[in-house]
Amino acid sequence: MGTKRLKLAIQKQGRLAEPSLELLRKCGISISNGPGKLRSEAANFPLEVYFLRDDDIPEYVADGVADAGIVGANILAEAPSQVETVESLGFGQCRLAIAVPKASDVRSVDDLAGRRIATSYPLILRKFLDSRHTEADIHEISGSVEIAPSIGLADAVCDLVSSGSTLFSNGLREIETVMRSEAVLVARPDQDRSSETILGQFLFRLRGVLAARQNKYILLNAPAERVDEISRILPGMKSPTILPLAEPGWVSVHSVIGEKDFWEVVDSLKLAGAQGILVLSIDQMIR
Ligand code: PRP
Ligand code: ZN
Repeated sequence: MGTKRLKLAIQKQGRLAEPSLELLRKCGISISNGPGKLRSEAANFPLEVYFLRDDDIPEYVADGVADAGIVGANILAEAPSQVETVESLGFGQCRLAIAVPKASDVRSVDDLAGRRIATSYPLILRKFLDSRHTEADIHEISGSVEIAPSIGLADAVCDLVSSGSTLFSNGLREIETVMRSEAVLVARPDQDRSSETILGQFLFRLRGVLAARQNKYILLNAPAERVDEISRILPGMKSPTILPLAEPGWVSVHSVIGEKDFWEVVDSLKLAGAQGILVLSIDQMIR
């Protein structure tokens, strides 16, 4: 018997496929993938990846075929199953939205009463319309939802929007966001001991990568007499590291700060005399 591996299901093709593999790579887990490949063992971590259709992933995890999976929150919301959302992964952001033809007289959700809406998300849409006390005819189709209005099949669509280019090229205009979605890691609540251990090790790396993605390593040069001022501006994890430079009266300041925070303080840093500011990506942040 080989060593126990954690079986992770990821999307074979589509918006989450490449970013999922990229996330594994960032966790130091290399997976070889190729056309037609449906499973692959990591060379350097006890993990085996199954490449599946995204809609199937929650069920495979719930049934124990896979131990964990990476899937869009939209799919979980449409097909509730016995899986647990362990972590939001910060990629694959999109929204489920209602859209109508540009020339339509429908302006708001209220105007949809009595109309026909094509969607692959009938459950989410039904709940949404109920919450708005609007009765419409939900027409379920499994793909190419956006062409439904132009072929006379529906008055509106409810589908995923990411860049918006599919809506645009089909002459549709968004009227309402139904839900926001992103990729999440799901797992079965009742793992056996060994897969739980591996899942824990995987999560440890994963959280390090996720934390790192939100932070930047900042390096800058500053006049020594203004270091206190600069340290106060930098909302770092701890007080920054300060090293003397060869040039007398100048120091180098190193700090880790949230990317968003950095862009808010960059002007104040410059005003405080900071020069040669470097903003570096971080691969891993182990707390
Ligand atoms: C979604 C949706 C649209 C497209 C929108 O499909 O059905 O066709 O993406 O993206 P855009 O706003 O960037 O143009 P998805 O790729 O998720 O495939 P699936 O629904 O078949 O799984
Ligand atoms: Zn899909």
